[in-house]
Amino acid sequence: MTNDIFIIGGARPNFMKIAPLINEFKRQKIRFKFIHTGQHYDFNMSKIFLDNLGIPKPDYFLNAGSGTHASQTAKIMVEFEKVILKEKPRLVIVVGDVNSTIACALVAKKISIEVAHIEAGLRSFDLKMPEEINRRLTDQISDYLFITERSALLNLKNEGIDSSKIFFVGNVMIDNLINNLEKARNTNYFSELDLVCGEYGLVTIHRPSNVDNKRDLINVIEILDYIQSKFKVVFPIHPRTQKNLRKFNLEEEMNKPNLIITEPLGYLEFLNLIINSKFILTDSGGIQEEASYLKIPILTLRNNTERPVTIEEGTNTLIGNDILNLKKYLDKILTDTYKKGNPIEMWDGKAAQRITNTIIEKILKN
Ligand code: UD1
Repeated sequence: MTNDIFIIGGARPNFMKIAPLINEFKRQKIRFKFIHTGQHYDFNMSKIFLDNLGIPKPDYFLNAGSGTHASQTAKIMVEFEKVILKEKPRLVIVVGDVNSTIACALVAKKISIEVAHIEAGLRSFDLKMPEEINRRLTDQISDYLFITERSALLNLKNEGIDSSKIFFVGNVMIDNLINNLEKARNTNYFSELDLVCGEYGLVTIHRPSNVDNKRDLINVIEILDYIQSKFKVVFPIHPRTQKNLRKFNLEEEMNKPNLIITEPLGYLEFLNLIINSKFILTDSGGIQEEASYLKIPILTLRNNTERPVTIEEGTNTLIGNDILNLKKYLDKILTDTYKKGNPIEMWDGKAAQRITNTIIEKILKN
């Protein structure tokens, strides 16, 4: 058996979580291999992040690509199994909740290789979300569960996970944000779009529940229309959303005077847009955390969140897909009467260090 540890990345939200871990592994001279499943493959969904974040070229690229959930997950599993059988890693580290996460965890566990899950225990309690299924199943078979907030501890205990496997370490995504803040500031990307600091809103919407059927997508367009009637808005558009606008013949509806549409952006450009924005409207998971850390008001276009600390302590509010809710909270934001947010426990830039120390202690020393 080699000493190498596998670090898995596959889809856009994985890359900012593995970057600080890779840095810390390098610093502590821990041998690893980076496996890219290829779940996301466009330049601006993958390569630009690897470049921006200094992530090395993958040791293996599984080329899974898009497809139905079953075919994408299955393809990752088949390809990953070939690699894992050849390399026999000491540990497989998966992050987050995408299809690559469960696919690789399942393959590893079935051949008795230990699995560590970073960002374990988050629950939306909404099994219509593919991510919720991925999270629950991954946690059930993981040996080391690294959590970002206290709610995860209770969730895991309620699901019968032994507390000796759970480690409250903080948030690697926030580590990455802290590590890149200065660089992101310096890109000044917002001014390239002719935006003024504090005078625009930033939007990201791509969840199936908001964009996969025509009625929901029209609702999103109405919400965007309202916001842009009050304030300038920039919307870097995810391929899923773009495809559905085309499919439902709604592309024209996005031509609004105060709405700037861009391609999906790199990490540094996007972070630059976050830090200079007045507010954010999103259905993403990670952006709820980034905005809360930075104390930027954020309205989440969902009925639930797996990250409750962003509501309790952070600057996040769930508004469902209700335009009346949106009007109410947007008004508070624009009149500076919206909640200000508090610092969040353990989100201090040291999560990757804690995870690495735990791995050394529990795995590499044995
Ligand atoms: C996936 C994750 C989601 C995460 C999101 C961030 C799962 C179940 N979902 O959803 O949790 O928030 O990534 O981006 O893993 N496509 C491209 N180019 C790409 C990648 C995808 O054009 O590089 C297209 C695909 O053809 C597909 C659509 O975008 O039609 C969706 O991609 P997919 O990876 O299936 O899921 P996401 O919606 O991106």
